[in-house]
Amino acid sequence: MIKAVIFDLDGVIVDTARYHFLAWKRLADELGIKFTEADNERLKGVSRIRSMEILMELGGITLSQHEKERLANKKNAWFVDYVERMLPEEIFPGVTALITTFKQHGMRIALASSSKNAKTVIQLLRIEHLFEVVVDGTMVVHSKPDPEIFLLAATKLGVEPKECLVFEDAEAGVEAALAAGMHCVGIGTPEQLFKAMRVIRTTGEFTMSMLDDCNAAIKL
Ligand code: BG6
Ligand code: MG
Repeated sequence: MIKAVIFDLDGVIVDTARYHFLAWKRLADELGIKFTEADNERLKGVSRIRSMEILMELGGITLSQHEKERLANKKNAWFVDYVERMLPEEIFPGVTALITTFKQHGMRIALASSSKNAKTVIQLLRIEHLFEVVVDGTMVVHSKPDPEIFLLAATKLGVEPKECLVFEDAEAGVEAALAAGMHCVGIGTPEQLFKAMRVIRTTGEFTMSMLDDCNAAIKL
């Protein structure tokens, strides 16, 4: 039985995944590395430094630790610049109403994002009050696909992993949720997120009858 819902942030609550892509693309262009939206799928959900390493793999380049950190920080400054101009209207349609409905159904609600900017983003969007628990990239050692962040969220909520339903748009995030022993709804395409128990295009499409379906599937 699902008792808690854990949301990823970027690409699930708000379209900040787009800003991450634009900032990485800008850096890739500066470095002369070809970088497409398909390549970007590998960067979703993973930590900033791991993203930098994947970009280096794509470009076939090696860099010193210092240079790697300098460039990752440069990308982050662009990302922060984009999100600081973001408006609460950029929250995906239906998300706030969905969280409110979940709460009316007695669900516990957490946010679990690999991003070290997660708290800033939810403050800018004025949605901190929606989450009982917030865990972010500053609080874990291992980034998704490692289950650490989701297990920490469950512990803080005081629920069992098997009682948690995770909303994720990243392959690494779906893997992390499953590795944690949780159930996962994918936000995106079934081709990409085929390991999730259900895939929908956007978070706001989720309904309480889909929650009933998830509970029925878990019981089988
Ligand atoms: C995840 C994003 O939420 O956070 C990744 O999907 C990003 O694209 C990661 O790399 C780390 O974010 P930040 O803001 O700490 O660089
Ligand atoms: Mg995401």
